[in-house]
Amino acid sequence: MTFLSATLSRVKPSPTIAVTTKAAELKAAGRDVIGLGAGEPDFDTPQNIKDAAVAAITAGKTKYTPVDGIPELKQAICAKLKRDNGLDYAPNQISVGTGGKQILYNALMATLNPGDEVVIPAPYWVSYPDMVLLAGGEPVIAPATLENNFKLTPDQLEAAITAKTKWLIFNSPSNPTGAGYSRDELKALTDVLMRHPHVWVMTDDMYEHLAYDDFTFCTPAEVEPALYERTLTCNGVSKAYAMTGWRIGYAAGPVELIAAMRKIQSQSTSNPCSVSQWAAVEALNGPQDYLPENNVIFQRRRDLVVSMLSAIDGITCPVPEGAFYVYPSIAGLIGKTTPAGTVIDSDEAFATALLEEADVAVVFGAAFGLSPNFRVSYATSDEALKTACGRIQDFCAALT
Ligand SMILES: Cc1ncc(COP(=O)(O)O)c(C=O)c1O
Repeated sequence: MTFLSATLSRVKPSPTIAVTTKAAELKAAGRDVIGLGAGEPDFDTPQNIKDAAVAAITAGKTKYTPVDGIPELKQAICAKLKRDNGLDYAPNQISVGTGGKQILYNALMATLNPGDEVVIPAPYWVSYPDMVLLAGGEPVIAPATLENNFKLTPDQLEAAITAKTKWLIFNSPSNPTGAGYSRDELKALTDVLMRHPHVWVMTDDMYEHLAYDDFTFCTPAEVEPALYERTLTCNGVSKAYAMTGWRIGYAAGPVELIAAMRKIQSQSTSNPCSVSQWAAVEALNGPQDYLPENNVIFQRRRDLVVSMLSAIDGITCPVPEGAFYVYPSIAGLIGKTTPAGTVIDSDEAFATALLEEADVAVVFGAAFGLSPNFRVSYATSDEALKTACGRIQDFCAALT
């Protein structure tokens, strides 16, 4: 008999937060650990956004706001969705929450009944399956492969859908792989959804602006307008605007669903931080010129990491289209032994040994539902990346 709820036993704590915590502990103990685990840009929040927050505080905008966002932010989100995605939404179709995480969680809580299934392509962002479980649903994992650059094929989607499927959670560019679906690739998936009118799509567009080479971002309701009525388009300011700590995410969708999400938020956290909302208004309405400038830096880092990891015997590292992650396979290293005597029999063993024996923190692939791989976040300085990838090269070279 335990005091804790049975629901809690269905979920596990976030492994990415666990890795970041472990790396921080080792650092505090004096070890020269380089963390490639955290999913946040190393850039500072742009000054105009900080100024807007200070102005909001000075003007006394420090009280409760409407539960799911101030009208000014909802307007700015509608304008953004029109400008960037060609999507028409009215303010009563917008919900603002405390980060993209709360938005996704609210939507699942608002819609799932016991037994409802949610199709999640793997590799997936760690929180999707656990959020579905917390909301009482059943995650159905649809595995993509490295051979298809970690992208789900229409056949794989078709095979995962049953009469109980309520949602497909779609994420492009992806955490953890950086894979971005082209318009044609996405259209092939929306064609499958058109054959299954009971399935809705929750699209997590958090990495929309982090796209490299000639990759053009697209989102389901834009690619297949007939899906508009059963799409929840989710996004936020955390990644593109280096605002992870401000905690603002948003969604656009059918009025009834948005109202249901508001009801949940009204009985849990109420409004997201008032000051952060005013900062987000400036992020979305203000100058956007630093987005491509940041992408030049991220692309350079991606190329550096891909080339250094690809040079390792036993590692295969596809080149991702976006986000700030790479997801190399270590299939060629399985079965080898480290100088300290650790057998690399899984990606978890690899990541643990890499941290303990080479002072580099990465997240093991099993956490994201596809092994044997590991995730590197390259949202850190070129110098740290060079040193870390050099350590990974030396670590792998010493395996026997
Ligand atoms: C794919 C994806 N969606 C959502 C989020 C959550 O973003 P936020 O920090 O705004 O809650 C993250 C953060 O890591 C993410 O990687």
